[in-house]
Amino acid sequence: MSRAERKIDHIHYALSTGQSRGTGLGDIQFVHRSIPGSSVNDISLSTEIGGLQWSSPIFVNAMTGGGGKKTADINRQLAEMAATCRIPMAVGSQMSALRHSQERDTFTVARKVNKNGLIFANIGSEATPDEALAVCDMIEADALQIHLNVIQELAMPEGDRDFRGMAERIELISKRVPVPVIVKETGFGIGRETAALLNELPVAAIDTGGFGGTNFAMIENERSEKPMSFFNNWGLPTASSIVETVIGAPGKRTIASGGLQTAEDLVKSLALGASAAGMSGFLLNVLINDGADALIEYVEQLKKDMRMMMCALGAKTITDLHQVPLVIHGETHHWLRVRKCD
Ligand code: FNR
Repeated sequence: MSRAERKIDHIHYALSTGQSRGTGLGDIQFVHRSIPGSSVNDISLSTEIGGLQWSSPIFVNAMTGGGGKKTADINRQLAEMAATCRIPMAVGSQMSALRHSQERDTFTVARKVNKNGLIFANIGSEATPDEALAVCDMIEADALQIHLNVIQELAMPEGDRDFRGMAERIELISKRVPVPVIVKETGFGIGRETAALLNELPVAAIDTGGFGGTNFAMIENERSEKPMSFFNNWGLPTASSIVETVIGAPGKRTIASGGLQTAEDLVKSLALGASAAGMSGFLLNVLINDGADALIEYVEQLKKDMRMMMCALGAKTITDLHQVPLVIHGETHHWLRVRKCD
C-alpha cells in the first residue's frame, strides 16, 4: 500500500472508528451562577500561547499528512474554514513531504489560502532539528507541533519499535526553530509524569491529545492482520489528561484535545485549565459528511455557544474560565483521586 493510500485509509477509518465519547468530559458539571454579573457582548474568546495571540481558543488540530489530491483538497477546505472563522490550524505530519517534494502542495495550500492566519507545522519526535526547521519554512509556520505517537507506531506492523532519545530530540528541535513548539499526543493522553518531563524542556505548550475521540490503536488494529487489541482501550481520557497536564507542567500552557465535539466539551476543557482546544476527527466528519459550508457554520456556532456558556458562568475570558467551580463525578473523579490530582 502506498503512503497516500495509507493516509486515505486513515481518513476512512477515522470517520468510521473512534469518536467513542469516552473523554470523561461527561463527568464534569458546572456550578450554576444565578447572578453572574456578565454580558454576552463582553465575552472575549482570545487566548495567548507561546507569545502568539489567538483570536479563538478553538483550532483545527493536525490531520491529513501525506500526499495525494484528496488530502490536499481536505487541507484546502480546512484552511479556507480556518481563514473564514479566524481560527488557527495545524497541518498533518510533513515528514513525507521532506523526502518527496511533490507532496509539498498538500501543506503549502494551507498557507496559500490563509496568508495571514496562524498555521502550525507538524513533525514527529524522530525528526532532526534541520528537518524541523525545513517543515516550518515550508509553510511559513507560526508554531511547530511535535507529535508523540508511540502506540500508533507499535500497533502498525511496519511501525517504529525504538523510542529512545525522544525528549533529547524535542529539546534540540525546540532550541533550533524560531517559533514556539507545541508537543502533542495523538489520542492516548499526556500523563502527569510526561508533563513533568516536558515542563523541563524549552517548549511553549503541551497538547493533551487525550483518549476518547479518534483512536489510532483501533484504526491500525482494523487494518492489521495481527491486531494488538490490548491497545484499543489504552490511554488517559481527555478530562483526566487535562488535569494531569496542568498539574504536571505548571510552567507550560495546556492545550486540550481528543474527542472534542461540542461547545460544551470545549468550555469544560478550558474550565479544567486548558488555554486552547483542538479538534480533528469530528471536524473532518462534518466536512466529509456535510460539506465545507456546513463546517464553517458549525465552527461559527461553536463560538456563539461558547459565549453563551461563558456568560452564564460569569467568565469574561479564558483565564476567568480557569477559576469557575466544577463538580467532578464518576470515573473521572475516581481517576483523579487515585492519581492524587484532586
Ligand atoms: C490525525 N492526527 C495527527 N496528528 C499529528 O500530529 N500528525 C498527523 O499527521 C496526524 N494525522 C491525523 C490524521 C487523521 C485522519 C486524524 C483524524 C488525526 C491526530 C490528531 O491531531 C489528534 O491528536 C487525534 O485525532 C485526537 O483528536 P480527535 O480526532 O479525537 O479530535
